[in-house]
Amino acid sequence: EKGGFKHFMLKEIYEQPRAVRDTVQGRISLDTGRVYLDPMNITEGEFRRFDRVMIAACGTSWHAGLAGKYMIEQLARVPVEVDYSSEFRYRNPVLDERTLLIVISQSGETADTIAALREAKERDARVLAICNVQGSMITREADGTILTHAGPEIGVASTKAFTAQMVALYLFALYLGQLRGIISSDEARRHAQQLAELPVKIEHLLSDTDRVEELAKEFFRATDFLYLGRGINFPIALEGALKLKEISYIHAEGYPAGEMKHGPNALIDERLPVVVINTREQGNRASELRYEKTHSNIVEVKAREGIVISVLTEGDEMSSKVSDHVIEIPAASDLLSPILAIIPLQLLAYHIAVRRGCDVDQPRNLAKSVTVE
Ligand code: F6R
Repeated sequence: EKGGFKHFMLKEIYEQPRAVRDTVQGRISLDTGRVYLDPMNITEGEFRRFDRVMIAACGTSWHAGLAGKYMIEQLARVPVEVDYSSEFRYRNPVLDERTLLIVISQSGETADTIAALREAKERDARVLAICNVQGSMITREADGTILTHAGPEIGVASTKAFTAQMVALYLFALYLGQLRGIISSDEARRHAQQLAELPVKIEHLLSDTDRVEELAKEFFRATDFLYLGRGINFPIALEGALKLKEISYIHAEGYPAGEMKHGPNALIDERLPVVVINTREQGNRASELRYEKTHSNIVEVKAREGIVISVLTEGDEMSSKVSDHVIEIPAASDLLSPILAIIPLQLLAYHIAVRRGCDVDQPRNLAKSVTVE
């Protein structure tokens, strides 16, 4: 059942090329760049008229939602707000019929997220679900669903569902951007091409994991970890930290790289591993700027004796030179590179947890689906 893998989590990490391919499959045309969503009770006219998108989710799905905010705002130019489902519900959210609520859930049974969905429907908002389980409560109650085709996820720590969620959000952002006339057909074709190339890049990443295993060996005794990222890499920092906490029980925190000087710098010493995600897309000005700023953050961590493990784009020299350890990932566009960057961090958490003798697939105190509020 584990297909020769030692744990479900590892098997599911290795299923990501397939999960991504299946989630993209049939939903975007390489010839025209047009996105086709599954049939739903939300019309194109409604999608054009929404003036706001809200996203509600929990845990890893919430991190996908944060990444989705960058995608939707960039590609469709609609303001997006992201909430924990458990917070959304209790803060009397402002929403009406021109608000689209996107709920993201692997299981489709998370009580907090179901409650957020019902709350939004009561206030006349439309609800789109991104969900991995067809027929689950969330898919039955939402006005429409984009199914992630990650396949059943058994390991408690979510991996392939997360990358599939980000792909679904990217497709949705493209869809909305096209409907609203923000994305030209040339651009759309380029996006389609980039999405089609993702699975091969993930395969490439997974074909050589020696570096990550060495790092696990070196750092599995650490008591704390910090994860830093800027822009769309910030949610990846949060997700990298969550993976480590939940399966290895090591205290880990994710922070926006630029926030360090506002407090967390005080934590840095010669024993603290700091994982910095600093990918770059050559020729993309916004990406280059973010890269340079984050590079300065790496230099600052080094100046305070911290141990820097950087996740960088293949061939990057500048940040590589100032880091203690480097994990390289294939080059990709700014908004798609997080789908690659999270994978070595999933593996790092996995190998650290195995070395610590933790029950990777069944971490203490956690359940795969949380059906109580
Ligand atoms: C983390 C994890 C949890 C879930 C969260 C939401 O690895 O698995 O944080 O992401 O409980 O679950 P779903 O997506 O099923 O609503």
